Amino acid sequence: MSNPVVILGIESSCDDTGASVLKEGKIHANIIANQDVHKDYGGVVPELASRAHQQNIVPVVHEALKSAGVDKSELSAIAFTRGPGLLGSLLVGTSFAKSMALALDIPLLEINHMHAHIIAHFIESEGEQSSKPQFPFLCLTVSGGHTEIVLVETHLKMKLIGTTNDDAAGEAFDKAAKTIGLDYPGGPLIDKLAKDGNPLAYKFPHPKAPGYGYSFSGLKTAFLYFIRDQIARDSNFVQDNKADICASIQHTIVVVLLKKLVQASKDLGISEIAISGGVAANSKLREELMLLKKSEDWSVYIPKFEFCTDNAAMIAMAGYYKFINGSFASQATSASARYSYGD
Ligand code: KG4
Ligand code: ZN
Repeated sequence: MSNPVVILGIESSCDDTGASVLKEGKIHANIIANQDVHKDYGGVVPELASRAHQQNIVPVVHEALKSAGVDKSELSAIAFTRGPGLLGSLLVGTSFAKSMALALDIPLLEINHMHAHIIAHFIESEGEQSSKPQFPFLCLTVSGGHTEIVLVETHLKMKLIGTTNDDAAGEAFDKAAKTIGLDYPGGPLIDKLAKDGNPLAYKFPHPKAPGYGYSFSGLKTAFLYFIRDQIARDSNFVQDNKADICASIQHTIVVVLLKKLVQASKDLGISEIAISGGVAANSKLREELMLLKKSEDWSVYIPKFEFCTDNAAMIAMAGYYKFINGSFASQATSASARYSYGD
């Protein structure tokens, strides 16, 4: 009998250091170290992120192997996030993966972080099975750095059909949150506060972008001016209306996101619809998707929360498909902050 395929996945594109172990197609460990150092700055500070990755990477990898009960000598290959992301952060994971693969004399698998967010839909943990999207499907990938509609043809073939011209959806959430004095990352806080608010209390402009594209920077500015003007009239405005403000901005972002997805689905005649990325955790987005599932007769797929936000399980899983396909990277590979979609 041949040895089982065992892959170590490493993720370090932004502010989470992750390591995961995949064995025979299933995830056996998924360890993540979040970085609290950025909280006081209202956003990720690249320099601090790289340093924290350097501190966390060895213990995180050690913990993943230990919790999977796998010795490093059993590894078949190492998958790592090559990009896109913060260069200093990517360099830590890339250098670590290259060194470890060289020392163990095993192949490397370079992974596009955005592909991996989509591959998160195919993750199976030990003893679990879930329904998977059928090809071709459309995936709305919404995170702190990206907002994309992707036509997914196979595990390895994906086509970007729409993206943001400026800010990402997660950034729109985080910047709106910052404007009203919430901590970073503000997306989950807006989601929580919005639960008690009226989504139609305040109206914000719906930004326009051609095709299946998005634009959120105008909305950010409109929101900033709206809050500034209201505070000029009533200094307690934010404090007294927090839930309504959160529900209204959340409603606007979600409506804008889904409008283009509906359009793409109609134009391409595809009703297999998936969402991924950190913003896929948003409860309003999930709720509205469930309504569309009924009205548009969609099959809707949303990964488990732990696989929506940045994690290394999705990197190990994406690595598995590359491994099966024999798509290995060379030791000459380097981190790429702008790793493009077709790569
Ligand atoms: O995918 P992710 O973990 O990291 C990136 O690759 O960016 O996404 C993080 C983003 C942040 O902008 C965060 O505010 C947003 O996802 N986010 C949310 C929610 N949970 C995370 N936004 C809205 N509602 C949520 N529940
Ligand atoms: Zn991400």
